[in-house]
Amino acid sequence: KKRIGILTSGGDCAGLNAAIRAVTRRAIEGYGWEVVGIHNGTLGLISTPVDAEVLDHKTFSGTLLRQGGTFLGTTNKGDPFAYPMKDGSLKDRSAEFIEGFRELDLCGLIGVGGDGSMKILNKLCERGNIPFIGIPKTIDNDVACTEFSIGFTTAVNVAVDALDRLHPTAASHHRVMILEVMGRDAGHIALHAGIAGGADVILVPEIPYDMEKVAAKIRHIYEHEHRSHALIVVSEAVKAADGKPVMKQNDEGRFNYGGVGHVIGEQLYKMTGAETRVTVLGHVQRGGKPAMRDRVIASAFGVSAVDLLAQGKTNRMVAWQHRKVVDVALEDVVSHYNNIDVSGTLVHTARGLGICLGDE
Ligand code: F6P
Repeated sequence: KKRIGILTSGGDCAGLNAAIRAVTRRAIEGYGWEVVGIHNGTLGLISTPVDAEVLDHKTFSGTLLRQGGTFLGTTNKGDPFAYPMKDGSLKDRSAEFIEGFRELDLCGLIGVGGDGSMKILNKLCERGNIPFIGIPKTIDNDVACTEFSIGFTTAVNVAVDALDRLHPTAASHHRVMILEVMGRDAGHIALHAGIAGGADVILVPEIPYDMEKVAAKIRHIYEHEHRSHALIVVSEAVKAADGKPVMKQNDEGRFNYGGVGHVIGEQLYKMTGAETRVTVLGHVQRGGKPAMRDRVIASAFGVSAVDLLAQGKTNRMVAWQHRKVVDVALEDVVSHYNNIDVSGTLVHTARGLGICLGDE
């Protein structure tokens, strides 16, 4: 029997279990193949013994489709080309990854990951001559060549729900509520959530902000919009008008979470006298029940990824474009980044609604 492997890599998000389920069902029902779920991303293949389990219908007889996270486990410290050792050094363990794959007697691999994982998995599989298909996932929606990645919609829904809950308390106390959301270098979560959740100000990394403009918007609300409360959504990696990120990145390139919202809240208070309160949404955005669209695209991606392996394709990623699943070259995916289109429909919509984006 032909066997394929599946792993999830990088930060988790809602909808991963739906993708693993779809891969398993398609492989078994469509092709009579066996599916092996590799634990903890690339770590499952480089560990001794190899850490994996056979997946079948029984695996999914419970509530996995409805659950966030990934039951296979994941890691974002699993780059086998530069594996962090206990003594602080980095070791190339790519040969062990390839060995692990061979040991499981697999003939193809499906990897569910974000842009970083795609880069690593693509390189590993090219080196090991392993047929590989990627499935995009990330709450940030920053993977190139696809309109949606698994997990984005659920994360946005969590942020919109937070704004729905912040609005009544903002109104009751006549406060400016600041919601800091994730998203890395892309402002998709902030922009979508801000529009859907009725924000007055949305700050995203793609549009450097000027605090004077933000303060002017709040004053305008008090003086001309007959309101004494407001909602601000700020993306974790925003840059001030001088082009510098407000928050420092740590050694791993990660932002010092829970910072920028407080910086803006404090500045706004000083500039306008508005009473401000800050909520940092954090990893809440990654969990929870997957939204309908995440389950649907995860299922469609999973089925198509198996079909691509069956067609003998490799180094491709499934993508959502114009209402359907297509496949794109992984080298195109990894050489681009999906930022907000600053002259696109959603930025235009936000401006049309009178939302301040910090630049005018
Ligand atoms: O890429 C997903 C993401 O949640 C980003 O939005 C955030 O910057 C980062 O991962 C958080 O990473 P970690 O879970 O390692 O703190």
